[in-house]
Amino acid sequence: MKQKIAIIGFGTVGQGLCEILLKKREYLKEKYDYEFEVVAVADFVYGNVFNAEGLDISKMLEEAKAKKKFSEDLTEWNNIELIKNCNADVVCELTFTDLKTGGPAIDHCIAAFESGKHIVTSNKGPAALKYQEMKKLAEKNGVTFQIEGTVVAGTPVINLAEGPLAGCEISKIRGILNGTTNYMLSEMEKGMSYDEVLKIAQELGYAEADPTGDVEGYDARGKVTILANVVMGAPLKIDDVACEGITKITPEDIKKAKEKNARWKLIGTVEKKDGKVVGSVAPEMIDLSHPLAGIMGATNALTFTTDLLGDVTIVGPGAGRIETGFSILTDLLKIFRTK
Ligand code: HSE
Repeated sequence: MKQKIAIIGFGTVGQGLCEILLKKREYLKEKYDYEFEVVAVADFVYGNVFNAEGLDISKMLEEAKAKKKFSEDLTEWNNIELIKNCNADVVCELTFTDLKTGGPAIDHCIAAFESGKHIVTSNKGPAALKYQEMKKLAEKNGVTFQIEGTVVAGTPVINLAEGPLAGCEISKIRGILNGTTNYMLSEMEKGMSYDEVLKIAQELGYAEADPTGDVEGYDARGKVTILANVVMGAPLKIDDVACEGITKITPEDIKKAKEKNARWKLIGTVEKKDGKVVGSVAPEMIDLSHPLAGIMGATNALTFTTDLLGDVTIVGPGAGRIETGFSILTDLLKIFRTK
């Protein structure tokens, strides 16, 4: 049976996902017997569209690239009505992250669960602010809350911890969790100015809609909170996580680190301490001999400290259009393959 997909938010990630789906349609059918149709899309710029048989996403991508509104299958339904009334099996919640309130994404997730639809999301709001509630509501309605894309884009951090590492007790997770700041610190080392590199990070699709979230460490803090909840099962709240960003790091600090054979990295940590799970985000001067010092650009890296395997480290892209689009695809396939 074809998987029917609704996409809420047709920005960088939504478009990236559709590009991948179009490009890989035959491969996905051949390799996994996976077939799909996108039946609904909601976007506050391009409009809300619905077609129970499947939308023409190729045309929609062209329209979005030309900054034109969608021209076919328009519907009067608002986002919530669209989620509830459409015939999708899975709703991809790809609107902008709002770590203060969760934004409309929380209501989108609730509407999906209550109408028996899975959620796949890269939006950190619902997972960072209401993970336990979202998971319970999904379970109550016989569906799932899939959030691989909320931490380190498509690099499989959540699925690694929940799948292949199941059975290992994880006592600590530590690493580089924000692509924008790692990219900025890498480029600033080469002599570029803070403002210049931030602008490029935005153009490359790494930075959040409001990049304050990246540079102040709030994005990494959201991810630390998610990891604490999902991997460690600790109901940590965002405000429980100590947080400092990279805004105070000056070219002079970067030079000083270099002289000491070290480099600055924004490090997120979740660990079990005296029976309690604690989280933090802060810049650290890392010796060049340390593996995390070699992680440059928008690449992220995360080390899980486990009882049975010792340290397990995963390195991969932490941001970007296709990289985050892939995180959605991997969760769509997970739902399809675990039926
Ligand atoms: N702004 C984020 C980053 C995107 O730079 O890592 C992925 O969450």
